[in-house]
Amino acid sequence: PLLTRRNLLKASAVAGAYGVGVGIAGKFGVAEAAPEPQVLKALKTTASLTDSGVTKDIMTWGDAGMPPVLRMTKGKPFAARLTNTLDEPTTIHWHGLRIANKMDGVPFMTQPYVYTGDSFDYAFTPPDAGTFWYHPHCNTLTQMGHGMTGVLVVEDPDDPTFDAEVVLNLRDWRLGGDGQFIAAFRPRDAAKTGTYGTVRTANWHQEPQYDAPAGGLIRLRIAVTDVTRIFSLKMEGAEATVIALDGNPVPKRFPLDLLLIGPGQRLDLAVRMPDNEGAIATLEDIRGTTPKTIAKLRAVGTSLKRNVGDLTALGENPVAKHDLSAAQKIPLILSATAESAPVDSICGTLGYSFWAINKIPWPGDTPDPTAPLAELKLGKSYILQLENVTPHTHPIHLHGMSFTVLSSPTRDVMPLVTDTYLVQPDEKVQLAFVADNPGDWLLHCHIIEHQKTGMTSYVRVV
Ligand code: C2O
Ligand code: CU
Repeated sequence: PLLTRRNLLKASAVAGAYGVGVGIAGKFGVAEAAPEPQVLKALKTTASLTDSGVTKDIMTWGDAGMPPVLRMTKGKPFAARLTNTLDEPTTIHWHGLRIANKMDGVPFMTQPYVYTGDSFDYAFTPPDAGTFWYHPHCNTLTQMGHGMTGVLVVEDPDDPTFDAEVVLNLRDWRLGGDGQFIAAFRPRDAAKTGTYGTVRTANWHQEPQYDAPAGGLIRLRIAVTDVTRIFSLKMEGAEATVIALDGNPVPKRFPLDLLLIGPGQRLDLAVRMPDNEGAIATLEDIRGTTPKTIAKLRAVGTSLKRNVGDLTALGENPVAKHDLSAAQKIPLILSATAESAPVDSICGTLGYSFWAINKIPWPGDTPDPTAPLAELKLGKSYILQLENVTPHTHPIHLHGMSFTVLSSPTRDVMPLVTDTYLVQPDEKVQLAFVADNPGDWLLHCHIIEHQKTGMTSYVRVV
């Protein structure tokens, strides 16, 4: 299933043919006729993930197995209607999109959860182009663990021209030898790295292979949507250049070489396919003892002889520039916590409390939130001073706003603009941003067992 540029254009032509609706104006977008909503029907189904038979109790949106790769255009309105046919409440969070608070998909905080049989209309205008993703924010370990993690692409009409595009949704499944789901987690692992899946997939297939034009330039959009696994990515057999991380262009392109990328993060690569027909480029995860193949690209046709240097730059996203001289610092300590009583919720509880931010454990989706970490003034600059005092790595995600990585005394960091930063053990890092989006915004670890056992809080922008 190779996505050629022509197919993409066809798909967007269809999307553009939808009728007109009521105009909507977002803070970050222009008023324009709202499109017909794309229906995202949350449902239970089966899928063929392993050789040991069909897996039951899969959760997804729509009838196509893996959740659809949603495509939208920077600055153009998008609408989706979530309808819930699961036997539990759900919502959709649009990870990394800087949109209005009431569209953010956090139950109790930004919207009511969507009961069985109910629906909810999401409508927004994505301000930034890039690779993003979407997932529920209710009973997350179960719903995401059982399949509800989808990739979202925001296109920019001025994007450089590639010869093909391949989207990879990377995730594991916790399945037993019979191909059926086993316990979602082990408490002793939740208190450490999180519990790993047993079956690895890209686009719900083990080691899939895609055809791509020989000698061509491929845009490989990778989203780590797994609930636990951190990857160390490497490309064998082709030259791969990092062009964007977490939806935003990197300040300077660099060759892919063992890049660590954690749950919630995205990576855009320009892959120069080999010239010889039949040659294979392999994306590998080299974290752990033996390299694991994630996906393969096979060169087809006569070489297009493209040169990665010919690619024009990706456009900057309109993220407000922070003012360091006026920025107020917000210290945040990520720690383990003495086990306290977990809070029960309609959005599920794991029954344990292992982690905390500034000593307060909170699972993030209960009717009675903890107090906000800080109250931020709209339009002012802030620096999150994250300190990880645990021996584990935590991908920390802020909703609603993107931040710039300023410095880390323990390693060299690029001034990346991102929504998810992988905080290493014992690392301290400074993340600067402008509080330009009003509302309550979650900040949490994207290792879902950590999120659900306490490593969650939020900031309030007023
Ligand atoms: Cu990917 Cu709170 O989200
Ligand atoms: Cu964590």
